Amino acid sequence: MEVVCCIRHIVISIALLGIILPWRCEAQSPSISSTTARQLDSLLQDYAYRAFVRPRTGTPYDAVVPSNLTGIKLAVLRLRNGSLKSRGFHGFKEFDIPTGIVVQPYVKRLAFVYQNLGVRSSFYYPLLGFSYLSPVLGLLAYNAANISAINLPELDIMASKSPISIEFTDVKPAPSGFTAKCVKFDLNGSAVFTDLVSGTVCSTFLQGHFAIVVNSSEISPSPSPSPSPAGIPIPSHVPGKGHHSKVWKIAVSIAGGIAGLLLLILLVVWLASSYRKKRKLMAMQKREDVGEVLRMSQVGNTRVPVAPMTRTQPAIETDYVP
Ligand SMILES: *[C@@H]1O[C@H](CO)[C@@H](O)[C@H](O)[C@H]1NC(C)=O
Ligand SMILES: *[C@@H]1O[C@H](CO)[C@@H](O)[C@H](O)[C@H]1NC(C)=O
Ligand SMILES: *[C@@H]1O[C@H](CO)[C@@H](O)[C@H](O)[C@H]1NC(C)=O
Ligand SMILES: *[C@@H]1O[C@H](CO)[C@@H](O)[C@H](O)[C@H]1NC(C)=O
Ligand SMILES: *[C@@H]1O[C@H](CO)[C@@H](O)[C@H](O)[C@H]1NC(C)=O
Repeated sequence: MEVVCCIRHIVISIALLGIILPWRCEAQSPSISSTTARQLDSLLQDYAYRAFVRPRTGTPYDAVVPSNLTGIKLAVLRLRNGSLKSRGFHGFKEFDIPTGIVVQPYVKRLAFVYQNLGVRSSFYYPLLGFSYLSPVLGLLAYNAANISAINLPELDIMASKSPISIEFTDVKPAPSGFTAKCVKFDLNGSAVFTDLVSGTVCSTFLQGHFAIVVNSSEISPSPSPSPSPAGIPIPSHVPGKGHHSKVWKIAVSIAGGIAGLLLLILLVVWLASSYRKKRKLMAMQKREDVGEVLRMSQVGNTRVPVAPMTRTQPAIETDYVP
């Protein structure tokens, strides 16, 4: 009986999963695609500041991202205005912050939030016609006066002497015949392409998001709209990809629905047959019990011959015989 019960639970769970899964899948996708890169920045500022438990200025802290954003690496560094200006900060992850950074408006302490978007790079920063050779890295500056603050606006920072340099560590080699480029996304979402400084190093005078890419449209010139020389806006939506994923989603939903329905039918059939068996068993048990009672009611050495009549009496059984 224990085993039967267990099997029933498993079957019910599978059937429910088959019905629920396609809906879950449908319900989750839109919430991800409607989250823009700027919303992500705001969310990551909040999660980065949570790493500030009794923070020391000048010490980088790794922060934890929510489970729906796993794959993104996050760190935070708090600096005093004076120390940033006179000393900069050498080696905050891939970033080297030089002396002479000008911060507007004036704040006593500021925090740099570091982001490594990892596998989510092309989702938040889709670049039509380009392939990422490195993850997208972000460096953003905020006021660090209140370490529990959320929805902070970025400060304006600018390197006044030498640029901030970014030495990418996780870079795929460019395919032969292709030239790797640096791409910078400013906070308005405009992409600017520049040459690498050397090896895997890019540089910037402003905060934002950075990566190493190759122009993959150089292979097969496709009839995509030719981008303006500088300040190419990020396409908010890649047509081909979106279409395919939609078709795929519908296919998965239908397959999931059919699987769920089949499992449900199987479950009903199985339950009906097990119910039938159970009734049969109960009927048999009842007969035995009747026999038991009859035996007990014997008088002296003589058995009362009523058994055959009572045994054929229960009509329940015939109702369920197919
Ligand atoms: C991820 O989870 C956090 C907290 O649970 C939520 O605020 C945020 O909107 C979610 N982000 C995405 C992209 O689903
Ligand atoms: C903070 O920076 C400003 C310039 O941005 C400078 O004038 C000021 O002296 C600095 N304050 C401290 C405490 O270092
Ligand atoms: C810091 O920010 C939190 C969250 O916005 C707010 O509740 C709190 O009052 C702020 N503290 C100060 C000292 O401004
Ligand atoms: C973003 O756009 C606003 C208004 O269009 C402009 O004032 C600002 O300078 C831009 N910022 C960057 C980093 O390009
Ligand atoms: C990418 O390559 C295509 C084809 O050679 C060219 O038309 C386009 O201007 C390139 N884009 C950039 C940003 O260099």
